[in-house]
Amino acid sequence: MSIDDYDKPPELYDGLRLHQNENTGGCSPRVLEALAALRADQIAFYPPYKTAVDACARHLGVAPDRLALTNGLDEGIMAVAIAYLRPSRDNTSPEAPEAIVPQPAFEIFAIDASVVGGRAVLVMPRPDFAFALDEVLAAITPNTRVVFLTNPNNPTGVSMPMDAIKTVAARMPRGGVVFVDEAYADFAGTTFVPELPAHPNVVVGRTFAKAYGLAGLRIGALVGAPATLAPVRQAIGVYSVNVAATIALEAALQDTAYVEHYLRQVRESKALVYATCDRLGLKYWKSDANFVLIRTGERTGALVDAASARGIYLRDRSSDPGCEGCLRLTAGIVEHTRRGLAVLEEVLCAAL
Ligand SMILES: Cc1ncc(COP(=O)(O)O)c(C=O)c1O
Repeated sequence: MSIDDYDKPPELYDGLRLHQNENTGGCSPRVLEALAALRADQIAFYPPYKTAVDACARHLGVAPDRLALTNGLDEGIMAVAIAYLRPSRDNTSPEAPEAIVPQPAFEIFAIDASVVGGRAVLVMPRPDFAFALDEVLAAITPNTRVVFLTNPNNPTGVSMPMDAIKTVAARMPRGGVVFVDEAYADFAGTTFVPELPAHPNVVVGRTFAKAYGLAGLRIGALVGAPATLAPVRQAIGVYSVNVAATIALEAALQDTAYVEHYLRQVRESKALVYATCDRLGLKYWKSDANFVLIRTGERTGALVDAASARGIYLRDRSSDPGCEGCLRLTAGIVEHTRRGLAVLEEVLCAAL
């Protein structure tokens, strides 16, 4: 996979966005208040990071020197790729550094690996999306520099056992890292972060784009041992996180009631999706994230287009390994999910 293959979702803003796993309810009102209170001098000056880093570290239960803020988790992934997957200048080996990417996966891992000169090694999925531990271990070579894991996974919503992450970390060649993308961990309620001190070759990535509704401001974080993060920090732009994002993050983290409300909506929405799929006889995978992968079969492309024509945007994941004939639907605010399901049912029935 290269950057040329990246199918960036079209810019569809005048309908119901259920295709990019965003927070369909928007951010906390406290975030808007904090942004409205931004002063001219705060915008004129390069942003200070200490209070936002401290707040984020407190939120994740780690010391501030174990955390780096990033311009969205996307920047964190690229920084990890730059730090660990660039062929080194004094490298006499003809082999490119390798990144193992169990499939299906967030496509950016393989793209970033190839952009920096590394080689993505794709591990094919098991039929039920259970984590392919043995296959991942078998793919590790002396050239493996990064294993990209996502827990719970995107686009399946399926989680992997924490022990599997530890096993992969224990088998990594010296100097390599396991990257655990926890973009959806807020929905799952589990995290590898407390395990990090015992596993210094693991870096966890988090985002505030999903449960906290800050996707438009671009704010994420990397957590790991200071020495493991050191080369990654060098690959993050000096002031890449802007002042509005830091202020928004602090406000969002304070409004715990808002996030808890959203997590409840997501749980209720997923139950609605499962019930609808059961009624329609559609296969789906129980999700620990804020979306559900549904097998709608050969008509998936036509279904997604028909829903789009009605202003409901879904994501066709048919080209991902193991996801043939599948679409992914964001489960956010219950009312939005109901609207999405109604259109899905309408176009499904029309297609029959
Ligand atoms: C697995 C995964 N990682 C990272 C990201 C990107 O997060 P951010 O919006 O913080 O860049 C996404 C967004 O969809 C994702 O699904």
